[in-house]
Amino acid sequence: MDSKDLILRKIVTCATVCLLGIAAITTHGQTAAARTNGPSERDWWKNAVIYEVYPRSFQDTNGDGVGDLNGITKRLDYLQELGVDALWLTPCYPSPQVDFGYDISDYENIDPQYGTIADFDRLVAEAKKRHIRVIMDMVMNHSSDQHEWFLQSRSSRDNPYRDWYVWHDGKGETSTDRGAPPNNWQSEFGHSAWQWDEKTRQYYYHKFYIQQPDLNWDNPKVHRAFKDIIDFWLKRGVAGFRFDAITTLFEDPSLADEGVVKDKNGNPLIDAFGEQVLDGSKTALVAKIHPVMQEMRAEADTFNMDAFPGERVLIAEIYTSSIAELATMYGPPGKPEFQLPMDTQVGIIDKLDIAAFRAKLTDAETGLGSNVPLLLFDNHDNPRLDVRYGDGVHDTDIQRVIATVLFASRGVALLYYGDEIGMKTTPPKRREDVKDPVGIAGWPKEKGRDGERTPMQWDWSANAGFTAGMPWLLVPPSAATINVKAEESDPNSLLAWYKALIRLKKTNRALEDGANIMLDTGNTKVLSWMRAVAGAPQVVVSVNFTAQPQTVNLMNGEVGKETRKLKTLLKTPGAADSPSLDQIQLEPFGVYVGEVH
Ligand code: GLC
Repeated sequence: MDSKDLILRKIVTCATVCLLGIAAITTHGQTAAARTNGPSERDWWKNAVIYEVYPRSFQDTNGDGVGDLNGITKRLDYLQELGVDALWLTPCYPSPQVDFGYDISDYENIDPQYGTIADFDRLVAEAKKRHIRVIMDMVMNHSSDQHEWFLQSRSSRDNPYRDWYVWHDGKGETSTDRGAPPNNWQSEFGHSAWQWDEKTRQYYYHKFYIQQPDLNWDNPKVHRAFKDIIDFWLKRGVAGFRFDAITTLFEDPSLADEGVVKDKNGNPLIDAFGEQVLDGSKTALVAKIHPVMQEMRAEADTFNMDAFPGERVLIAEIYTSSIAELATMYGPPGKPEFQLPMDTQVGIIDKLDIAAFRAKLTDAETGLGSNVPLLLFDNHDNPRLDVRYGDGVHDTDIQRVIATVLFASRGVALLYYGDEIGMKTTPPKRREDVKDPVGIAGWPKEKGRDGERTPMQWDWSANAGFTAGMPWLLVPPSAATINVKAEESDPNSLLAWYKALIRLKKTNRALEDGANIMLDTGNTKVLSWMRAVAGAPQVVVSVNFTAQPQTVNLMNGEVGKETRKLKTLLKTPGAADSPSLDQIQLEPFGVYVGEVH
C-alpha cells in the first residue's frame, strides 16, 4: 500500500458505507444571503485559510532534531505574513510516537519532545496576538496501548476499563487454543486488525497499528471522557479540533466478515502488503457516528462566548468519493455536527484532469446545500503536489494552478506546511532510513509517509534552518533552492503567489464569499470559473491545464455580456496582460485572475 493506496482504500471504505445507505443529505448553517456580508468574528472560519503544521518537522529550537512548540511560536510572524487564520497542529500530546503522535498516551498534556503545557499556552497567546487560532487534532478512534485506560483494560477481564476497548474471543477458541482472529478485518496498516493478548486470552481490535487499540464507542463512559478532554483544551483557548479517523469509530457487533474488493476483471484487489483489499463495510459504520458528533459539537458550542470570540470549529477527516456522504457530515437541521468535513473530493484527483476538477468543484458548490466546503490537496498522509500533479518541467507553474484552485474557489482552504514554497515529496532511499512503520512494513513497494514529512525548508543552510542538530528526517537536497529565505526575496516566487492569492481571498469581495460558477464548461484545456456576489464586480479565473499556451473567450457565458473590460488582479509572472474578456491569454499552465468592469 503506498500513500495513494491509503487514500484509495479509505475511499472504498466510505463509498461502500454510502451504498449501504446513509441518512439522506441534510444541511444546516448560514444561508447564501447571510454570507454576502462577509464572515463575522463569530463565523471567522467561513473564508479561513488553515495551515497544517506537522510539529515534528516545522522548527526545532532545542537542537534535538525534532520540531517543537517553541519553534512554531518562533515562526508565527511568518505565518501571519502568509495570511493564515488558523493552524491545525497534528498531535503533540504525550505519545510513544509509534504513529508519530497518533498514538496518544495522555490526552491532557504535551509530549516533552515538543515542550510543555506552558509552551502550549504561550503559543496560543502569541498566535492570538497575530489573529491566528490554534486547532488541535483529536484522535478518538483509538489511544496508545500505553494509555492508562488500555493498561487497565488489558490487566484483567473484570477491570472497570475492560469495555473501554473492543475485546473478543478467537474463532474456535478453547481453553488451550486461542483460536483464529474473530474475523477477516484488516488494519489500515497491513495484516489482521486483531491482536492476541496472552494475559487475558482474548483478541483486541486495532484499525491502525497494534499499538493503537480501538476505543469502544458503544460505552457511554468513553463519550464522557472525550467531552472532558475537549473541554480541557477549549478552556485553554483552542479554536477547534480536527477529528482523526472519525469514520471508523464503530464496528459491526455481529463481527461479520468484510467483502473483498474486486478489480474490473473480477479479481480481488491486492494491497501493498500483499493482502486482499476489503470493502470497509463492517468497520466504518458512518451512520453511527452522527449522534456522537452532535454530542461533541454541542459541547464545543458551549464555548462560543468567552474571551476568544468565534465559533469553535470541528473538522472531520473523511475520505469519500460521494458528495452526498460528505454532505451528511454537516449534520441534520438543528443538530449540527462538523462545520468543516474535509472535502477530499477535489484533492483526491491525482492528475490534472480538467473534467474531474470541474465536476468535483461543481459538486462542492452545489452538493453541500448552504454549507461551506473545506478544500485541500495534500497532508501528512499523502504525497505532496509535485508528485501528484507535476510534470518535472513546469512544476512551479502547476503548483500555481493548484494554489489558484484552492484559494480562488469558495470555501475554506487548507494547506500543508511547505506547499507555499513548493516542497517536494522526498521518500527515503534506503530502508534503514525509513521512520514511518507503514514504510518499514511495506518496503520497497510502500515507502511510507516520510516523503511528505521532511523538515520545513526555511533557508539554504545545512539543515535548512530547521535544526542545529541532526534532523529526525533528512532535509531534501532541493532545500538549496526551495526555501523560505530565497523565495521571500523573489517577487515571482511561489511563496509570493501564495501570499498574493491569500490576500485576494481576504480582500476581494467576490473572492471572499461570492458564488462559484463554472464557465466555458466544454473547454478541455482551460478551467474557468467566476466568483459573483451582489454589490461587487465579478471575478473571473482561468487556469491552463496544458503545457501549451491557450486563449479563452469568456464572453459567451454568464459573464460580461455587455463588457469586455477586465482589470487584472493576478497573473502568472511574465505573462501578457489580458485586458479583454474575449481573449484571455494563458502561458503553459498559466493562470489569470481578473475583475470584470
Ligand atoms: C489518520 C492520520 C494518520 C494516522 C491515522 C491513525 O489517518 O491522519 O496520520 O496514521 O489516522 O491515527
